[in-house]
Amino acid sequence: MPLKVLVTGGAGFIGSNFVRFLAKNTDIEMLVYDKLTYAGRYENIADLVERKRISFVKGDICDEEMITRTMNSWRPDIVVNFAAETHVDRSINEPSPFIRTNILGIFTILEVLRKIDAGVLLHVSTDEVYGDLWGKEEKATENSILNPSSPYSASKASGDMLIKSYGRTYGLKYRIVRPCNNYGPYQHPEKLIPRTIIRLLHGRPAVVYGDGEQIRDWIFTEDTARAMLTVMERGKDGEVYNICSDMSATVKDIVEMILKIMGRDQRSIVYGKPRPGEDRRYAMECGKIKSLGWRPEVTLEEGLRKTVKWYLDNEWWWKAIVDERYVLAESPWG
Ligand SMILES: NC(=O)c1ccc[n+]([C@@H]2O[C@H](COP(=O)([O-])OP(=O)(O)OC[C@H]3O[C@@H](n4cnc5c(N)ncnc54)[C@H](O)[C@@H]3O)[C@@H](O)[C@H]2O)c1
Repeated sequence: MPLKVLVTGGAGFIGSNFVRFLAKNTDIEMLVYDKLTYAGRYENIADLVERKRISFVKGDICDEEMITRTMNSWRPDIVVNFAAETHVDRSINEPSPFIRTNILGIFTILEVLRKIDAGVLLHVSTDEVYGDLWGKEEKATENSILNPSSPYSASKASGDMLIKSYGRTYGLKYRIVRPCNNYGPYQHPEKLIPRTIIRLLHGRPAVVYGDGEQIRDWIFTEDTARAMLTVMERGKDGEVYNICSDMSATVKDIVEMILKIMGRDQRSIVYGKPRPGEDRRYAMECGKIKSLGWRPEVTLEEGLRKTVKWYLDNEWWWKAIVDERYVLAESPWG
């Protein structure tokens, strides 16, 4: 019997890439459960639903009754949770949706799982929960303290802590992954890489916040999908797995690589207002997931080329959702 997976938030960027990857490479049965917020789009998975490779239900992870009904009828072996509010800039302007979905939403999923015992929870957290490692030599391991800086990362860290507490108190089965910065097809135009490509296509300069020297680890989202499948197949319950690529680069490096790929003037960059509270450096140690046999396969250069090509070929996908404040303005903070 193929595994049955309920994918909450599976119509968003990483979720839809994960669902596509599993649909292509496994016989796993999937039901996507997604609220379709401004960031989640049915178009991201429509072809898979229409050819009946996956099923789809529109729903909110804060709606206990609806999740209970969905889990009771679907009976998943694994619940993979991607559902979250994810844009740090928005969390600075309006934190409340982040607290609702990223904390109360997780709490609701946990309560349902506690009451109906419907499989293992594989939850997607983030490297941002470790906070700023600027000026420090070390990288964060899965045991490092959580030291979040933004309302976004604080809400994600809260979700992780609630999950761990349900594991310890109620014996709930869970696994947590903490990926680094993902990029690739279907990423919302407000995020750095699509925003840069789309701004250049609008004839505007790229924008970096502050000096652009913020260091991140960048992973092509298909590599994240393979890492998550590895954790599903070979990971252990009650464990956390960092997912990184060891391809670290500054925000400015990334923007310059995109300018080069798109054949634009390397000086076409505006230095916008710094993001309030921004972390200067994220870095993770990823030996634990590598010990399960996973390695990233897509280089930064190759992944960025594929991503630029996808946005050039799929203007229909992003054209209608280019937000003035978060994509075209030079600063979302006025
Ligand atoms: N994008 C990254 O670089 C990155 C890095 C590390 C971790 N993460 C984590 O990975 C997960 C997915 O991120 P993403 O970039 O794909 O995000 P995204 O914003 O593209 O997608 C989020 C999805 O969740 C859905 N959603 C939001 N609130 C919901 C609710 N209350 N009920 C049901 N569905 C809801 C949205 O409709 C959307 O489909 C998030 O948990 C995020 O914190 C992202």
